[in-house]
Amino acid sequence: MIQINPSNILKDKIGATHGISQQALDNLCTKYQPLTQEVFRAKNKVGYDFLNLPDDSELLRKIKKFVTNQNRYKWENIVVLGIGGSALGTIAVRSALISNYKRPRVFVVDNIDPQSISDLLSSINLSKTLFLVISKSGGTTEPMALYGLMRSELVKKKIRNFKKHFVFITDPKKGLLRKIAKKDGIQTFDIPSKIGGRFSVLSSACLVPLVLAGVDVNGLLKGARVMREVIKSTKGTVNPALLLAVSQFVMDRKKGKTMTVLMPYSNALFRVGDWYRQLLAESIGKNEKTGPTPINALGTTDQHSQLQLYTDGPNNKLIIFLRVLKFNEDPETGDQLPKELSFLNNRKMSTLLDAAYFGTAGSLTHSKRPNLTIEVPKVDAKNIGALFMLFEFQIALLGLLYKVDAFDQPGVEHSKQITKQLLSEL
Ligand code: PA5
Repeated sequence: MIQINPSNILKDKIGATHGISQQALDNLCTKYQPLTQEVFRAKNKVGYDFLNLPDDSELLRKIKKFVTNQNRYKWENIVVLGIGGSALGTIAVRSALISNYKRPRVFVVDNIDPQSISDLLSSINLSKTLFLVISKSGGTTEPMALYGLMRSELVKKKIRNFKKHFVFITDPKKGLLRKIAKKDGIQTFDIPSKIGGRFSVLSSACLVPLVLAGVDVNGLLKGARVMREVIKSTKGTVNPALLLAVSQFVMDRKKGKTMTVLMPYSNALFRVGDWYRQLLAESIGKNEKTGPTPINALGTTDQHSQLQLYTDGPNNKLIIFLRVLKFNEDPETGDQLPKELSFLNNRKMSTLLDAAYFGTAGSLTHSKRPNLTIEVPKVDAKNIGALFMLFEFQIALLGLLYKVDAFDQPGVEHSKQITKQLLSEL
């Protein structure tokens, strides 16, 4: 099971200016324990509904039936058209669990960058492509424009029955996408109305593309359920979501750590950091005083790009490591290196990676930089589902700790409105 080691945020490791005593951490976790129950009690309210997603076995049955039906088309490509919460979860799981060589290929177009769209168009056979248009609100400019573009391309190429090339995943009632689906008879899946975009990772928004891609979604949902149970049944510092939320809150509010770096020592988990970046930024960045800035980094790669700043620059960051305890594959270096490099001979890659992680955590601690580690037993669907639930719950707790609405995003909506206005005036 996923474990959190907070020892390097403690005063006896990094001193009283930047660290907190074990006693104070225990006391705070006890004080805020009731917030965990408050989140569970709110599970049917707008936003908090993310807690119920792992139980929707009826949805899973429907998706699996749909995917079996789709097999007759032998799709070579699944292309997701979505942005933010309608894309980042799929990107995170794809990077962690889907090999680039696997068919059907899964593309996620989460930008309206002209070059990458035309590169995609020139590398896929449209007649063998299924487009999943994903938007909770059903009207976001980027996915709607991409839908228009792909639909025009299919029509231009005179592809028969182009509608079978689209599936819409959106709010059950509201939004333009829902309206178009009704008018054109396009297949749809619902994102529950009480779920916000960035909390939709365990809804049809990600499950449809992931089942099409052959991911073990049963494992993903089971992992989320197991983590939810752990959070429900544990108390104080043993409760992983509470420990994470309280540590981050106290580091920000009391110790001036206004930035949070999420640094996996695993390429596979790097994009989970992008997903988390949105979750933290949009949920907690709510007024001039609240909102640790999330930063995404990768070990060991960013030791050679960011670490100088983290170790010697302003002491204003909490670093959260993701450490994988066992890799599915683990090649060895062999014995070809010269004497001067013999310490690298016959080493498993995981041994080198772990040494680098311990070296980095040790050097940050030595420089009085608070850091904590989330230990992930291995990268698989179950643990990724557990991480999603852990982080979503942590953010719901942070909303209560900072006393902000973690589930709205007025800043994002404002920019969406201005963009639409500008385009209609052009
Ligand atoms: O969390 C949110 O609600 C947003 O960041 C959305 O994920 C993003 O703006 C995309 O919105 P939609 O899924 O409605 O197209």
